[in-house]
Amino acid sequence: MPESLEPVRLADYRPFPFQVHETKLDFDIRNGETTVRCEMSVERQGDASAPLVLNGVDLRLMALTVDERPLGGNEYVVEGETLTIFDVPDSCLVQVVTRIQPESNTALEGLYKSGSMYCTQCEAEGFRKITYYPDRPDVLSRFTTTISADEQRFPVLLSNGNLVPPADSSAATAAGRRTVTWRDPFPKPSYLFALVAGDLALLEDEFVTCSGRRVALRIYSEPHNIGQCDYAMDALKRAMRWDEQRFGREYDLDIFMIVAVESFNMGAMENKGLNVFNTSYILATPDTATDAAYQRVEGVVAHEYFHNWSGNRVTCRDWFQLSLKEGFTVYRDAEFSSDMNSRTIKRVEDVEFLRSVQFAEDGGPLAHSVRPQSYMEINNFYTTTVYEKGAEVVRMMATILGRERFRAGSDAYFARHDGRAATVEDFLDAMESSSGLSLPQFRRWYEQAGTPLVTVSQVRRGDELTLTVEQSCPPTPGQPNKAPFHIPLAFGLIDAAGAELLGESGRKNGSTATVATDAKVENPESDGTLVTHLTAPRTAIALTGAPDDAAVSFLRGFSAPVRVRYPRPPAVLRRLAERDTDGFARWDAGQNLIAESLLAALGTSPDAAEDSDATREVIALFRELCQMAADAPDDGEAKALLAAMVTLPRETWLLDLLPGTDILEIARVWDALADRLAGAVDWLALASANRTSHPYRPDSADIARRQLRHRALWYALRRLDADDPQRAAALLADELANADNLTDRLAALQGIIGLQSLPEADKAAHLEAFYRRWSSQALVVDAWFAAQARNPLPGTLDRVTALQKHKAFDGANPNKVRALLLTFTTNVRNFHAADGGGYRWAADQILAIDQYNPQVASRLAKAFADWQRFDAARGARIRAALETVAAGRLSNDVREVVDKSLNAS
Ligand code: TRP
Ligand code: ZN
Repeated sequence: MPESLEPVRLADYRPFPFQVHETKLDFDIRNGETTVRCEMSVERQGDASAPLVLNGVDLRLMALTVDERPLGGNEYVVEGETLTIFDVPDSCLVQVVTRIQPESNTALEGLYKSGSMYCTQCEAEGFRKITYYPDRPDVLSRFTTTISADEQRFPVLLSNGNLVPPADSSAATAAGRRTVTWRDPFPKPSYLFALVAGDLALLEDEFVTCSGRRVALRIYSEPHNIGQCDYAMDALKRAMRWDEQRFGREYDLDIFMIVAVESFNMGAMENKGLNVFNTSYILATPDTATDAAYQRVEGVVAHEYFHNWSGNRVTCRDWFQLSLKEGFTVYRDAEFSSDMNSRTIKRVEDVEFLRSVQFAEDGGPLAHSVRPQSYMEINNFYTTTVYEKGAEVVRMMATILGRERFRAGSDAYFARHDGRAATVEDFLDAMESSSGLSLPQFRRWYEQAGTPLVTVSQVRRGDELTLTVEQSCPPTPGQPNKAPFHIPLAFGLIDAAGAELLGESGRKNGSTATVATDAKVENPESDGTLVTHLTAPRTAIALTGAPDDAAVSFLRGFSAPVRVRYPRPPAVLRRLAERDTDGFARWDAGQNLIAESLLAALGTSPDAAEDSDATREVIALFRELCQMAADAPDDGEAKALLAAMVTLPRETWLLDLLPGTDILEIARVWDALADRLAGAVDWLALASANRTSHPYRPDSADIARRQLRHRALWYALRRLDADDPQRAAALLADELANADNLTDRLAALQGIIGLQSLPEADKAAHLEAFYRRWSSQALVVDAWFAAQARNPLPGTLDRVTALQKHKAFDGANPNKVRALLLTFTTNVRNFHAADGGGYRWAADQILAIDQYNPQVASRLAKAFADWQRFDAARGARIRAALETVAAGRLSNDVREVVDKSLNAS
């Protein structure tokens, strides 16, 4: 529990007054108690009088010596979460012996048990739950780790680095015990330490690096999961090759290990040479993973592997620099996924997530800059702002510099800071000096929170089209006024037929259109797209020689993480959606057109006979898209884009466009539009045209087909549910019975759950049969819980509370909590039900979970943070729930989230 509620501030950073050259750890794992011996060779740097302050939480101190001399009670003090040694020689050996109880560690931080295996999670500040240590990322040390445990129960003992051959490890092993030693030659901070002990199965492979070194690749899991690790292994090899080719990064140890664990607070962790993964990001077979899960496995395996350079070889000076490793690594994994699959689709998915989740965070009480200025609990800052917006900032830098100069900057960054802890400035300095560019204004992206708003107005005089582009940024907590950002704006101009009118392509198309603006304009890789730099509050862009029918394709590829207000006639949006050359811009135009239709319907009578202008254009667009789908190639690109384009935007993004709107009213018009569209197209024909005849493959072409087919079935079923319930039920039962993969099976199950016409007893029978068939697969059971938590029909809260008592539900397992509870908080129609029952229920869950796992409780508490976006009555109910939580006995984690949420006016 918290001992002080004083925030940690970036401005207070001071270097650690000692170096720790070597760290020798010795773990003696016994049932119920683990003894940890930690020996540090310490050398003073600077301040001759500074005491040695070590961090430690929930530890039993058994012994403390300096140069082998036990310290007397007046030579050190343990106070709160620190151990201070007063008079430390300039160079000495400090030894600490502690005892810990991993068996009762429910927070899953430090050394804990997942099933029968022991494992660690040390980022951000978990190492201090293992031993007293300078647990901060700027203290880098070479670790040697000896583990001893029962030989029968824990035949596999792992830590970072390379295994020291048994002959060299001096420890004599007692009967029935096994002892191994690992040595990591690369200096690293304690957050990258890892240990695993268990009876684990192994999948082995090998990778030969670009310089010809052989690296042993090993994936470990509990024996029942090992048959599901092959896809992750392949993804790992692809990632290793890609990082060599694209970023010039070679792997450095003789061995790279991944361990898959079932109880894990987050996705995965990049511990040096020994990544620990949540099983949900490793296991993948057609029966146990959806298409989306396959792609997540590939992306996360790559993400953690890429951290070996962006995070491990070059680490962060302090936790305020978190985005230095996370934003950069998310950018790197997104580039990897774009190269492995479809670049356009990856971009659409990422932007959809950013706009509906990160924008909300950036506009609410928990808003913080990509590099925060202060925090109460660092675990609360593994946010979509630090990760996804941080990646957008790196991406903008790559756009501004161009591919080659960006690569030169990245090379310089790694070369300059290898083996050290760095800051955001170091990264920017490397980018600037290797590109020759100076980016002082760009740095504001790291300092100012909030999503910039870009508004565009357009005036035509003769053949001159002038855009006035203005930028502003709303106030965020602690930052009432913002200075203008450096926004790279990618744009194009197309004619009625969709031909490019600017740049090289424009000239080829016979266009004479030219661009004049006071901002610099350049032509990056794609030749019909220009990039200009919005640096002032207002920028004018004049397009001369623009034909009457020319339409501006604005913010191509989402070149900056901004909100755009660019009012245009629905017909123009439809044309962009149908014909733009930039896939992202097509999707974006379509989503904006749909939003216009939905926002126009708000407050109108449900049975208004007339479609609005925008709705008519949406229907025309959908008909055209389905026509295109009939002729689209099976290449994983076109069909996936069409599937995304016929998907209605999330209700929460619409709330972002029009804060204060009753979210259930948004849901009502959303449902009405979905019904209208269900009747406007022959979705059943589209679905049957996109069947896959061969066995399941998780490649992008098949994934695209399935996406389109499921989207089509979803609309078709809305129709059948009302018009022909028997056919609806039969169709879904058939899908469920004949599917050869989880993606199809779950889509069918979700469809069954959502049928209004199907009796509850029939649904229950399907759910029960599904559960019985897959009850041995934890991740499939998670998907089964999530499908029920997503049920849009009334009564879902009661079903969720009943499922919390199901034998397969386990509140101690974060995956189960996420599947059932967190998913429910994203169920718009039920979580936000007018009676506030969803909020009261969630408050109780947060209070209960916080007693044993603060990180997971805090994640759940964030579901309340955006209360100000809602209508006043609903906002007040969410606040009341927050107050219920605030009155409880809380961890620092939940306390920070709840207090900040309530303090927002
Ligand atoms: N560094 C991890 C990543 O790759 C994040 C992470 C894993 C984490 N486990 C954690 C962060 C526990 C905080 C607490 O993104
Ligand atoms: Zn990461």
